[in-house]
Parts: sequence; structure tokens; C-alpha cells
Amino acid sequence: MKTEILKINRDNINIDFIKKAASFIKNGDLVAFPTETVYGLGADGLNDEACRKIFKAKGRPSDNPLILHISHISMLDNLVEEITDKHRKLFDLWPGPMTLIFKKSDLIPDAVTAGGDTVAIRFPSDKVALALISQANTPIAAPSANISGRPSPTKASDVYQDMDGIIPVIIDGGESNIGIESTVIDLSGDEPTILRPGFYTYEFLKEILDDMKLDDSLVDSTKIPKSPGQKYKHYAPKAKLRVFIGENVPAYILKLADKYKEEGKKVGILVFDEDKDKFASYPYLSLGSRNDLSTMSHVLFSSLREMDRLGVDIILAEGVRENHLGKSIMNRMKKAAANDVNYL
Ligand code: TXA
Ligand code: MG
Repeated sequence: MKTEILKINRDNINIDFIKKAASFIKNGDLVAFPTETVYGLGADGLNDEACRKIFKAKGRPSDNPLILHISHISMLDNLVEEITDKHRKLFDLWPGPMTLIFKKSDLIPDAVTAGGDTVAIRFPSDKVALALISQANTPIAAPSANISGRPSPTKASDVYQDMDGIIPVIIDGGESNIGIESTVIDLSGDEPTILRPGFYTYEFLKEILDDMKLDDSLVDSTKIPKSPGQKYKHYAPKAKLRVFIGENVPAYILKLADKYKEEGKKVGILVFDEDKDKFASYPYLSLGSRNDLSTMSHVLFSSLREMDRLGVDIILAEGVRENHLGKSIMNRMKKAAANDVNYL
């Protein structure tokens, strides 16, 4: 299959390209598209057969449900069973990087829910995503547009790397600003529970709903996550990633890098701006300034992919403290590193 790339400027949207991409969705085909978090791999969310194509294209385990993307709050009514006034308080954060899980309506195909009785809904803010959903006139089911297990794509070229020849269309709408996936909150039980932390943090969400909880697995890593997707290997670069947190991390990483180099391994470094001078003799990428977690989340996945392009065997990276956005970033880093996270 030939994969076509449609380049669309967020600030001056080419409606002909949107119409073309939407016609693929309506025909039951897959379209990769930008969102403010990461790129999604979209299909008509009310078409079971189309949604099954997503699992095949990604190599995604069939028990991992999909998020339905809407372009207007009114689209919710047909998709979910019940919305309470309490839940509505969170709607102020929409459109945006938040996914809410509700009891599903009968309209939702099995492929979307992976056979469960709940459905995940997100109202993204990216203008290209919104135009595509409106034009397709259906909720668009979309996981991140990577091959399962790989870092999520934050630009069209990352999608192309994984999906060339597998899907017919990629919309190139530039870089995803946020860079890590949406915060997933389960509203189907008695207490609102964060299943996956993201740009909207626990600390922030607790201000809106004071009984907001974190899933047990986000507090104690030995607990099994409630969200199926959270239990799989994830975000993994081809190289081995090792993460270090604490005092004097740059000096420690430098020593370790020298040791690996002596063993004949090619080492890449992910480091904060403040320390990058120390690593001039290694391929390194900056995660931004130490105090700028937004930049860190924006570049994290693309840096992991870039390290693979550089062909390194081992990536040594500095991590951050696990609160606020740091908790969401470390959630991704831990999985990418298969838990090789070391506290110095
Ligand atoms: O930012 C995002 O959320 C991106 C963009 C494209 O919107 N999408 C995304 O999708 O990250 P995906 O499939 O890669 O991650 C969705 C997560 C998975 O961990 C999945 O298990 C969980 O949400 N999820 C989806 N539906 C669920 C449900 N009904 N119950 C529990 N977890 C659910
Ligand atoms: Mg994903």
C-alpha cells in the first residue's frame, strides 16, 4: 500500500485535504492525524470492522480498548450511558489532553471497548483533529499511531517510520505540543480515578474533584493497572534505556558512559541544558532546562526515536521527581526503560 502524506497548516486548514482524509475514515480505512498530545491512528469509531484494522496495523493486543475522539460535547450523548453533574465539572478542561471513561451505550462496537462495558472519550483541542472529526461526522477511534510497544509519535515523520506501507493516509499537522498522551480518568466507578497521568496532573485534578484518586498501580508499582494498556511493554526505544534520579546524576552518568564506551558500546545521553557541556564527546540530546517539565514532555518520545536513528546501544538519561507533570513523565520513562530507573 502506498502511504500518502497530506500536509495541513493548523492556522490555515486546507479543507480539500480534510475532506479527502475524512472520506477514507467514512470508507472504513485508517488515517493518522495530529492531536495536541501525540499523533493518533484513526478509524470510524462506530464501524467495528474499521476499528479492527487499527489493532492489525499496530500489532495491538486485542484486549486493549480504544479512545473515541469527538469534536463537540453534544456527541457524547449517544456514546455514553449516564453523565452526572459531578462529571460535568471536568468538561471545562475539554477540548484538551484529557480522556474520560464512562459506561458505554449500545452504539459502541466491541472492537472499541475490547469487549468491556465502558468507553473512553476524548475531545481534543488540535484544530486539524477537530476538522477531521467534524468532516467525518462520526467519533474517531484512535490509539497513538505507533507500532505497539514503540514510543508514541509526536510528528508525521515518526508515524511514517512505523506506518509506511501499512496505512493509506497520514495528515502532517506539525509537532504535537504536549508530547505525552492524555490523562485518562475513569468515571465509571464510585470515585473518579486517574488510570494514566498526563498533562493534567493529580494535584491539579484534585482541585476540581476533591475525591479524585490515583489508580493503585500509580502509587504502588507492584499493583496491576486497571487500564489494560498500562500493563504492556511501552514506549521502548531499540536501545536499552537507563534512567537516573537524585544527587550528582550528570557526573554519575558521565562515568557510566565512559565505562560502556570502554566495553565498545555506543552510548547516547539525554540531558538537561544546564549539563550538556559535560557530554560533548557523546551523542546527546537536550531535554530542555531542568525546571521546564513542559519542554521535557514535548521532546521525550521524539528524543527516544532520535536516539534510535543515531544507532546507539544504550541511552543514559536523567529523570525527574515524581510529582505534578514529573509524575506523568516518569510514568512514560519507567515503561520505556523497562523499570531500569535508579535513585542515586
Ligand atoms: O493522548 C491520547 O490519549 C492519544 C491521542 C491519539 O488521543 N491516544 C492514546 O491512545 O494514547 P492509546 O490507545 O495509545 O492509549 C489509551 C489508553 C490505553 O492505556 C487504554 O488501555 C486505555 O487508554 N483505555 C482505553 N479505553 C479504556 C477503557 N474503556 N477502560 C480503561 N482503559 C481504557
Ligand atoms: Mg499508545
